[in-house]
Amino acid sequence: MKRTVKVSLVATLCAALLLAAGCGGAPSQPANQGGSNQPSGSQSPVSGSEAGGEKQVEIFSWWTGAGEAAGLEGLIKLFTEKHPDIEVINAAVAGGAGTNAKAVLASRMSGGNPPDTFQVHAGHELLDTWVAADKMEPLNFLYESEGWYDVFPKQLVEMMSKDGNVYSVAVNIHRGNVMFYNKKVFDENNLTPPTTFDEFFTVAEALKAKGITPLALGDKEPWTALHLFESVLLGVIGPEKYNGLFDGSVSWDDPGVREALETFKRMLQYVNDDHAARNWQDASQLVAQGKAAMNVMGDWAKGYFTTDLNLKGNVDFGWAPSWNTEGTFMVISDTFGLPKGIQHREATIEFLKVLGSREGQDVFNPLKGSIPARTDADVSKYDDYSKEAMQDWSTNELTPSIAHGSAASPGFSEKITQVITVFVTTGNVDQAVADLVAAAGAELK
Ligand code: GAL
Repeated sequence: MKRTVKVSLVATLCAALLLAAGCGGAPSQPANQGGSNQPSGSQSPVSGSEAGGEKQVEIFSWWTGAGEAAGLEGLIKLFTEKHPDIEVINAAVAGGAGTNAKAVLASRMSGGNPPDTFQVHAGHELLDTWVAADKMEPLNFLYESEGWYDVFPKQLVEMMSKDGNVYSVAVNIHRGNVMFYNKKVFDENNLTPPTTFDEFFTVAEALKAKGITPLALGDKEPWTALHLFESVLLGVIGPEKYNGLFDGSVSWDDPGVREALETFKRMLQYVNDDHAARNWQDASQLVAQGKAAMNVMGDWAKGYFTTDLNLKGNVDFGWAPSWNTEGTFMVISDTFGLPKGIQHREATIEFLKVLGSREGQDVFNPLKGSIPARTDADVSKYDDYSKEAMQDWSTNELTPSIAHGSAASPGFSEKITQVITVFVTTGNVDQAVADLVAAAGAELK
């Protein structure tokens, strides 16, 4: 099967992120620029004492709170067991999909105060921003010493690489196009979970008639509406055309895009009234409690259901690829790199080694809901959901997520988020198509 995740290596600077953080205007932090003699990609790390004196590593992410924190905490615990002399500073900034963390990161990076390591999605979110701005060290030396070239899938390494240098380490693979559903709601109402859009609308009418919200949405943080839309878009136009939207071979005024907007608009008639007041966890909770029947979310929702809410897969909740997307896997990968000029370079390298190790990935991922990025996981540590996801990841057609940074530059992601946010309120298809075409013209080079 053809497996293509298109990542153009065009280096477009991260306009949106830097603007959001007041690029250039950010206050300058007292920067301890230790380790400015950075090795090239093939050299070994320099040894010597840390610039800051203390043995510390500051880990920056948006993994805090329910459904997010447990995996990272597990990884930190493992790291601390291996390196009791290194203090871990968990600098997580709350907000799903980096809603707040990305702006804080941009401010720190432009202010010369980078965290020792930070969460960033493989693909454009990494390459068009911090790599393009020459803020990251190549990690080829680590891939060589740790044998990672042999255990990380080549396509994934490409999503973290530019000009032969690899710039981050992937801790996981999340799947974006998943429909989670409350199993009891379907069983008690003699309904079958829908796999196509037609089936969705039939089931949604039946649920609505019984007073059950068919589809949970929590777009208080606007990325969740884009997350739902990109899954609908994929289902309507299929993986080949979806990928074509990002390499210029398919236009954003293709009739399929219009049809996807129409379908999305119709779907919004079946969501909870208070969607704008909820975040993704609140929306997932509606499904967990049986107040809503379905939800489209990345499989961090599975982590939330099982790790935080103690629900059982195939008993309390079920899952399926979102409508019409069977055979396609929407890829989201969380990675961590080594910024230039950090204070604790050696300790950070030790943390990256644990994060990229088989043991580290097998601690993190069962808690987080994702599957390991490495191909040699201990499968016995994973539940049925993840075993299925591993199978799909290795056989499905792959598509990159827009909402989670892989498909296009942050500039485009920012604009499409705005277009979809406005569309949720107005439902104006013509306007949305015009805005998408304009965004693509400006941002997709
Ligand atoms: C994604 C990230 C996931 C999860 C999710 C919700 O962007 O890749 O790991 O944290 O956001 O916050």
